[in-house]
Amino acid sequence: MKVAIIGANGQLGTDLVEVFGEEAISLTHKDLDVTDFESLNILKELKPDVIINTAAYVRVDDAELYPERAFQVNAVGALNVARIANEINAINIYISTDYVFDGTKGKPYTEEDAPNPISVYGLSKYAGEIFTRNYSPKHYVIRVASLYGKAGASGKGGNFIEFMIQKAKNREEIRVVDDQFMSPTYTKDVARTLKKFLELKPESGTYHMTNEGFCSWYEFTKAIFEILGWDVEIKPIKSSELKRLAKRPMFSALENMRLNELGLRMKPWKRALREYLEEKMHIF
Ligand SMILES: NC(=O)c1ccc[n+]([C@@H]2O[C@H](COP(=O)([O-])OP(=O)(O)OC[C@H]3O[C@@H](n4cnc5c(N)ncnc54)[C@H](OP(=O)(O)O)[C@@H]3O)[C@@H](O)[C@H]2O)c1
Repeated sequence: MKVAIIGANGQLGTDLVEVFGEEAISLTHKDLDVTDFESLNILKELKPDVIINTAAYVRVDDAELYPERAFQVNAVGALNVARIANEINAINIYISTDYVFDGTKGKPYTEEDAPNPISVYGLSKYAGEIFTRNYSPKHYVIRVASLYGKAGASGKGGNFIEFMIQKAKNREEIRVVDDQFMSPTYTKDVARTLKKFLELKPESGTYHMTNEGFCSWYEFTKAIFEILGWDVEIKPIKSSELKRLAKRPMFSALENMRLNELGLRMKPWKRALREYLEEKMHIF
């Protein structure tokens, strides 16, 4: 099986390339631009069996200022990939987000819940999902959440864990919201699970793929320093204190209902966090 990975040097892309090994065809932003249909012709020559599209405009606050940029990459980009996947008869995998939900459900969202995005980023990703579903019959929409991985998000200049560790090292004050809940997810686990998932050839559709469980960003930060064994003071704050441009869902935990039905259970988020800290050699 040949698996083309778009966004190959991004946070998730890096782990996908590693996990798929010899099957992986790495495609970075230099090789193709999902917003430029002509540049996708390279896929006709490569003839992959599967395309995993991780390319995204991920700056959630900036997307409020530049909605057309977010829609170009996250929505039109998804349409372009869907069209080319169709032409070469490849399976099309679109990586989506928990931010398609509004966060008002109060318990974890399953694949059966209706999206209702509350930010431009969420809306643009939801539009990407719709294009993927409607234009590529052989598709998977894979929703992940609050990603961290060894490469750090290239679109965000790092990841949350490394930002917190750096702040602690610099002895800066650490203030984290305790009223926003999500399912923190290790990109290596997504990559490993996606590989097993493809081997099972499940039916087309939408699947949630996050580490098990959920927590607030405050609890997540506490867990980082607990595992590291560092005595760091963390001040819990409310989201309203941050005055960010984009609204975030207050409770966007995902339940991997359909994945669990396939027997592909992801590990709990705290265990994944420990593994990440080991991989980055913060602990031994
Ligand atoms: N990070 C999160 O917390 C999170 C949460 C939920 C869902 N997701 C979704 O998960 C996926 C992967 O996220 P990530 O954290 O791995 O992001 P990332 O590190 O920013 O990776 C995105 C990759 O896409 C490339 N890219 C951006 N625009 C492109 C374009 N127009 N054409 C081709 N390539 C382009 C980037 O390359 P350059 O940097 O060189 O432009 C980068 O390699 C995205 O679909 C995102 O929406 C992420």
